Amino acid sequence: MRLENKTAIITGGGSGIGLSSARAFCREGAKTAIFGRRQDRLDEAKNELGDNLLAIQGDITNDDDIQRLVDETVREFGKIDILVHNAGMFTVSPLHEMEDEAWDQVLNVNLRSIFKLTKAVLPHMMRQKSGNIIHISSILSLVATPNASAYNASKGALNQFCRSLATEYGSFGIRSNVICPGLIETEMTEDLMSDEKLMEEWSKNYPIGRFGKPEDIANACLFLASEESSFITGAILPVDGGYTAL
Ligand SMILES: NC(=O)c1ccc[n+]([C@@H]2O[C@H](COP(=O)([O-])OP(=O)(O)OC[C@H]3O[C@@H](n4cnc5c(N)ncnc54)[C@H](OP(=O)(O)O)[C@@H]3O)[C@@H](O)[C@H]2O)c1
Repeated sequence: MRLENKTAIITGGGSGIGLSSARAFCREGAKTAIFGRRQDRLDEAKNELGDNLLAIQGDITNDDDIQRLVDETVREFGKIDILVHNAGMFTVSPLHEMEDEAWDQVLNVNLRSIFKLTKAVLPHMMRQKSGNIIHISSILSLVATPNASAYNASKGALNQFCRSLATEYGSFGIRSNVICPGLIETEMTEDLMSDEKLMEEWSKNYPIGRFGKPEDIANACLFLASEESSFITGAILPVDGGYTAL
């Protein structure tokens, strides 16, 4: 098994890319803690994945919840080897109409929370002289789309945050990498993807001829979490069917 004796935290692990990654991690032997606000989603994941899974309810914008996530994971599993920053949100708004609160919300969920959780986890990884941090960014960190300035900005900043970690903590045996998904079929994109005409248009931007599935990202996540990628750090990996190659 590729993650035997490893432990992991996956934020937003109750649905979509996070849940698919949790399935892959548990299958490969990792004890995995998932985190999110919806208790029913966490319960479903726990029922499905059983003893290797720890489900912790909380809000990633709440500093106390973040500390509790780290404390409970360490209490239960003894250590944290892998941290997947996956929880995120998307909003659509022309910039000149965007409320300050909406901007702050996106930046809090997609960026500030990552600073806070990383800061809480780093001492554990530094002590054990190993760690692996994976950031779920977006192709919208590499190219922009209109009416999504807060999301685009948050994910662009995340890429640089990832590289900063790679340079700053490599000497502690800590790796940090980014995955940039293209359009993936999840709850986040459900409404968008129900627009058949729009999807037909957008599919022309995907050389591989299809949009992504959560498993496409989970597989990349598993690779970056495993020893197979032990010389990879500070990398920004598009998993996008060739979208950013066009
Ligand atoms: N789907 C795509 O096309 C796509 C493309 C590029 C990047 N991404 C990125 O992939 C990541 C996962 O998204 P997804 O597509 O899998 O959509 P999703 O199923 O909606 O997953 C988002 C997850 O984030 C959690 N979350 C959101 N706000 C939270 C908060 N305040 N506190 C705790 N958890 C929170 C949600 O759980 P709760 O609601 O239960 O809290 C949910 O499980 C996101 O970072 C997204 O930006 C997705």
